Amino acid sequence: MNYNKKTVRDIDVAGKKVLLRCDFNVPMAKDSSGVITDDKRIVAALPTIRYLLENGAAVIACSHMGKPQPSFDKWVQKQTEKGKDPATLTEAKWQKSLAELSLKPVAARLAELLEMPVIMAADVVGEDARAKAAALQPGQILLLENTRFEKGETKNDPALARAMADMADLYVSDAFGAVHRAHASTAGVADYLPAVSGFLIQKELDFIGGALANPKRPLVAILGGSKVSSKIGVINNLLEIADTIIIGGGMAYTFSAAQGGKVGDSLLEADWMDYSNEMVAKAAAKGVKLLLPVDTVIADRFAPDAAQQVVKAGEIPDGWQGLDIGPETVKLYCDAVKDAGTVIWNGPMGVFEFAAFAKGTEAVAEALSKTEATTIIGGGDSAAAVQQLGYADKMTHISTGGGASLEFMEGKELPGVACLLDK
Ligand code: 3PG
Repeated sequence: MNYNKKTVRDIDVAGKKVLLRCDFNVPMAKDSSGVITDDKRIVAALPTIRYLLENGAAVIACSHMGKPQPSFDKWVQKQTEKGKDPATLTEAKWQKSLAELSLKPVAARLAELLEMPVIMAADVVGEDARAKAAALQPGQILLLENTRFEKGETKNDPALARAMADMADLYVSDAFGAVHRAHASTAGVADYLPAVSGFLIQKELDFIGGALANPKRPLVAILGGSKVSSKIGVINNLLEIADTIIIGGGMAYTFSAAQGGKVGDSLLEADWMDYSNEMVAKAAAKGVKLLLPVDTVIADRFAPDAAQQVVKAGEIPDGWQGLDIGPETVKLYCDAVKDAGTVIWNGPMGVFEFAAFAKGTEAVAEALSKTEATTIIGGGDSAAAVQQLGYADKMTHISTGGGASLEFMEGKELPGVACLLDK
């Protein structure tokens, strides 16, 4: 896939109505108060928004939020599958579930950050949106409602894509977190408008794409997280590219069990044991150094205050479970990143949410903060860990995409990038 895409700088935006796809899918407080608990994705879109406004464009911003059910029947079906009593599922409750996923709180936060009014549309391509888009003047910004309120969004319905495109002269995507989705607002709309990238997508492509295509070597990939099954594509692709692959987190126990180790009550994906052995063999055949834990911190239960001890990898007694990499492993892994040219990190080394089992993840974050290497942190859990442990400003790049950065590292084509004009 070609990552050299035209950006807003390569096209005249003055006097144009620009449909700007952002990823404003931000976490909200659980109490339905509409409080945004982390506005990083909104802040990350500001450079492109400001550039467009300052260069005479009228900005029609749009985004999805959460996974709303745009039809009442489908909502009832999903809730029933989750075990809810169908008799309690009213139209009013469905409407409430939609209202909780409105982008109104995002419009309010965006207005604060931009220090200017943000006009909010009541719908996506309905009468209100169309009228407000038609009246929009250069230097003004309008935010459409949650694109997933439209049935056609996730189906990439051409009629919806066309209706969105009809409001604008140009499409700009800066929604890196959603580029792995082939939806009407992330890809379909590019069939009807010239399409270029904003600065956030450009930055993500430069850093992640650069590290994958042309890394400063040695390239060390640190892969963690709980499941091998969710990292298969990444391990497989990085085995083609990396010089060293480091495995940590819950998935290390599947590798250990596959090699005949005792993993006690640790997380284990028995179905993926053969695959783990295949990856070990592939690494050996390709001359890629594959590092697995040599010791592990085990707990007598999954709890922040569980009793703990350190044992050798593969020697976990029954009744105990591994929740972090051990001190010998920490040393081994930190040494491996010391002289790296590039480090890509995706997935924590242990249950970092529990302070007692965060040491492995913290030590790796600290080692990354000290190396001269370009350090790239995949989104989701690894980004959260680096943030929570206070090392965020020491990393070269922290991706704003969870699923998107994972699919990027898997080497998959990203529909929301592929649809943009090549440079
Ligand atoms: C994310 O949070 O990873 C993106 O906004 C994509 O959201 P989705 O998984 O609901 O498509």
